[in-house]
Amino acid sequence: MKYVIGVDLGTSAVKTLLVGQDGVVHAEATREYPLYHDKAGWSEQDPEDWVTGTTAALRELIDGSSVSPEDVEGISFSGQMHGLVLLDADGKPVRRAILWNDTRTTEQCREIERTLGDKLLSVTRNPALEGFTLPKILWVKQHEPESFAKAAGFLLPKDYVRLRLTGEKHMDLSDAAGTLMLDVAGRDWSADVLGAFAVPAGFCPPLVEAGALVGGLTAEAASATGLRQETKVFAGGADNACGAIGAGILSPGLTLCSIGTSGVVLTYEEDASADYRGKVHFFNHGKPDAFYAMGVTLAAGYSLSWFRNTFAKGETYDALLQGAEDVPAGSNGLLFTPYIVGERTPHADAQIRGSFVGVDGSHTRTHFARAVMEGITFSLNESIEMFRAAGKQVDKVVSIGGGAKNPLWLQMQADIFQADVVALENEQGPGLGAAMLAAVGCGWFPSLDACGETFVKHARIYRPDEAASARYGQLFEIYRQVYGQTAGINHALYAFRN
Ligand code: XUL
Repeated sequence: MKYVIGVDLGTSAVKTLLVGQDGVVHAEATREYPLYHDKAGWSEQDPEDWVTGTTAALRELIDGSSVSPEDVEGISFSGQMHGLVLLDADGKPVRRAILWNDTRTTEQCREIERTLGDKLLSVTRNPALEGFTLPKILWVKQHEPESFAKAAGFLLPKDYVRLRLTGEKHMDLSDAAGTLMLDVAGRDWSADVLGAFAVPAGFCPPLVEAGALVGGLTAEAASATGLRQETKVFAGGADNACGAIGAGILSPGLTLCSIGTSGVVLTYEEDASADYRGKVHFFNHGKPDAFYAMGVTLAAGYSLSWFRNTFAKGETYDALLQGAEDVPAGSNGLLFTPYIVGERTPHADAQIRGSFVGVDGSHTRTHFARAVMEGITFSLNESIEMFRAAGKQVDKVVSIGGGAKNPLWLQMQADIFQADVVALENEQGPGLGAAMLAAVGCGWFPSLDACGETFVKHARIYRPDEAASARYGQLFEIYRQVYGQTAGINHALYAFRN
């Protein structure tokens, strides 16, 4: 049998999957790396950590399996979106990467809105949000002119790792859509946007489709990973596009809920005609000529990992959540808003912060843990409601990521979304979508849809429980008030954060 590799370059770790022609994951290997939060609202990573982690994970994947490198035909990537990797003329990073969940760029976002006016939405199809790449470029230009002077171009995280493995610079459309410099419907860098901010020609890398063959491995990368130099390297896509591919979100009418560090709800869009007036993100899909609309909760899985690391350090998630299924829906009157690093959808607000509301002397840590899961799911439900209000039918949601590993959370999603929630057999997140891009690129299947028939297997369906759904419906209306009631307080507290 032949194999492909999917590399998922995430925010907390890189995960590599070795997938056979049968669509089965035969081996996996993961490496974690640090995040740097030097100031409140800042979030950075060292691109070298991604390269070291990816190389080590690939080496373990090959050495630990009985599969010969001769049988590994292709490799592709899924990447955390938006992160700015500024490169000098020799392709070396001039500073650490500034990530998607870094919110230091509010001033630059306002500048982008003022400068582009209506073109912002008509060309980039997205609002100016702190996490996107262009505001980060403008921030470095303004605050670190000496770094900016050294910069000859930029890449996104997975593109930098691929550069180090192949020696070639490219960016795929699904990831480029998150830079705020792409003409999303026109599938090209926007001359209007680049011109407006004096981004020099040649600063942006060549654009390719997510499934494009971009080369083979360098001799150095082959010897470090154990793979052959002839292994075919395909560009890969944004993690949310790859999550959608791996969950089979490849035709209209399908909705995805992905809970990783961030959480997203996305719907497939056949063309670029839908107009959400900038309320949700609108990006190119990893499937050629398709698009998706998406709402984002900045701290989804991150809220739960923050809670565990702060109040249950060293404990497993199973230990943390033990007994949570016995706590009634609504955590006995305890509500959590997951705004611990600011928020995107529906409140694009970098200064808002999270709350526990209704804390009672009888609440235990288990109530808090359940309230965190509920708050994350309420936040994602705001995106679901937004899609419904725009006329989309959302009655079946495919769930992936950390939130899909726990039956309690899957049932909670069904109850809060008031929709059927489908889990995948052998849930693997966006890495499977990356492997599918390589599988199609290697000619195993004529299309991603055909590949999905072998690779994507739906498992159990969680249906809404009527009583829990009704209770959550009432609680959701209360949850929705918390943003408005706490925004003023949080904006005033902003000055006290360092
Ligand atoms: C999407 C976004 C996040 C990252 C997470 O706009 O910022 O979902 O892609 O890796």
